[in-house]
Amino acid sequence: MLKKKFSCVKVDQQKDGITWVIFNRPEKRNAMSPTFHAEMMEIMKSLETDPDTKLVILTGAGTAYSAGQDLKEYFRETDGNNAAKAAAGANSRWRSDVLWMYNKPTIAMINGFCIGGAFTHCICSDFAIAAHDVTFSLSEVNWGILPGGMVSKMMSDTVRPRDAMFYAATGRPFNGKKAAEIGLINFSVAKKDLKRETLKLARELLEKNPNVLRGTKHAIRATQTMSWRAAADYLAAKQAEIKMRDAARGHDSYKEGIRQFIDEKAYRPVFSPYVGASDGKTTEKGGKPRASGARKKKAPARKKSAKRK
Ligand code: ACO
Repeated sequence: MLKKKFSCVKVDQQKDGITWVIFNRPEKRNAMSPTFHAEMMEIMKSLETDPDTKLVILTGAGTAYSAGQDLKEYFRETDGNNAAKAAAGANSRWRSDVLWMYNKPTIAMINGFCIGGAFTHCICSDFAIAAHDVTFSLSEVNWGILPGGMVSKMMSDTVRPRDAMFYAATGRPFNGKKAAEIGLINFSVAKKDLKRETLKLARELLEKNPNVLRGTKHAIRATQTMSWRAAADYLAAKQAEIKMRDAARGHDSYKEGIRQFIDEKAYRPVFSPYVGASDGKTTEKGGKPRASGARKKKAPARKKSAKRK
């Protein structure tokens, strides 16, 4: 449990393992100052190893998700002070260094303005959901720089090339529906449904085996820039890592998942994870007893007619 209080960010940890990280400078539209970045670096690193946090949702207080880098505090006030500029830059890498390969699932819930440098943590989160009517903009071209940090690279890796060029070169604002259409986010919903839909996804992810989900996230990220040969080796090694991590909690997801499907006919992988995926308990007779209340929902029984010959 992260007890410390921060000046630019609010951390709200729920009992179900979901931790809300709320950018909390609404009067500045959650623009990212050096203090904000230092706090976010500390928070994200702490939550990554915090046993009470299983999943992180990033969002903003007020009318903005984030208005990008703070033009006054991040840029102008560090001009001429190399040490301060370097420190701010180093801490701002909580997004591209920490969030990009985070060990726990992350969701960006885009509740309002998402501008410039905020595209970085939108893209570095594993999932991004926005309200239909929020405003995205790569405003850099309108005030005098190119989309720096890693924004140009991330945009051209993430969205359709024509759209990367169009929105970077014009700075033209676009809404959540368009962001989904070009692949910048997963989907957009009506503002009133934003929290509910975000939590729905979060809870779906929490049902998975966390080691398998972690390996899958890393696999999708890391193989993007690998050759086929390197990717094949990486994926094989990553699978072995899942086995090792499962073994550390006395579990074998691979065997358990197949056994419950083939022998017990307890679930269908197309529709849900196997029973006990999230808590690592087996349903096998003679296996470890399941923790009481660890998973109350019973998997739907398979009908006899579904039995394969
Ligand atoms: N940096 C510093 N201060 C900011 C930023 C920012 N990025 N964005 C907003 N603010 C401040 C404003 O200066 C203002 O402060 P004040 O009350 O002390 O005058 C306050 O937040 C509210 O801003 P408004 O413009 O009044 O809010 P409004 O809701 O009308 O508009 C909008 C919001 C559209 C986000 C507008 O503030 C804006 O265009 N901000 C600049 C966005 C931007 O270009 N960011 C940099 C991207 S590039 C990069 O990140 C590298």
